[in-house]
Amino acid sequence: MTFLELARTRQSDRAFTTQAVRREDLLTCVQAAQLAPSACNSQPWKFVIIDDAALVKQVGTMIANNPLGINKFAETAPVLVAVVEEPAVLMAKAQGTVPNDRWAKFDLGSATEHFCLQAAELGLGTCIMGAFDSEAINAALDLPKDRNVFIMLAVGYPSGNTRTKVRKEVDKICSFNRYEG
Ligand SMILES: Cc1cc2nc3c(=O)[nH]c(=O)nc-3n(C[C@H](O)[C@H](O)[C@H](O)COP(=O)(O)O)c2cc1C
Repeated sequence: MTFLELARTRQSDRAFTTQAVRREDLLTCVQAAQLAPSACNSQPWKFVIIDDAALVKQVGTMIANNPLGINKFAETAPVLVAVVEEPAVLMAKAQGTVPNDRWAKFDLGSATEHFCLQAAELGLGTCIMGAFDSEAINAALDLPKDRNVFIMLAVGYPSGNTRTKVRKEVDKICSFNRYEG
């Protein structure tokens, strides 16, 4: 698969088979995330992989009970991953130029996408989920008080269809040498 083919293959999967996901494969996804770039190489992330069925059910129900009324499928995912924001330790010169957590959020996004792309290469489906009550999940996972779940992932073997990507055209999102509105 070329990189473009892999990028096309990754999609948000919201239905999964009951097939168990091997820890080895999940750790390969974490290795891909580990290789993501980060400001000052701060690597402000931790991945809490939830593959214990009872805990998946508990946390999945918490995700499903979000105010937007979406993510009901989270209860049926074989694996959930909590991407936890860690304090970004920037080099002294960079400190104070922007809030540390601004770059951290960029970094967390990069690492999360590395995870999802690696999963896609392994035939695993993922869905990034931003709609959830983070306080409830922080407590369920027993996170320290100063840590927060940034984003959740559902992971499993997809049982749904492959969709055609809905994206803005390249010429609408790109221009050379000047901004075109
Ligand atoms: C930060 C972020 C939060 C998201 N939150 C949710 C979510 O809570 N529930 C959901 O079903 N999809 C969620 N998505 C998935 C997007 O809807 C999806 O990536 C987008 O529609 C493009 O579709 P694709 O991923 O299949 O290419 C989220 C994606 C991102 C990047």
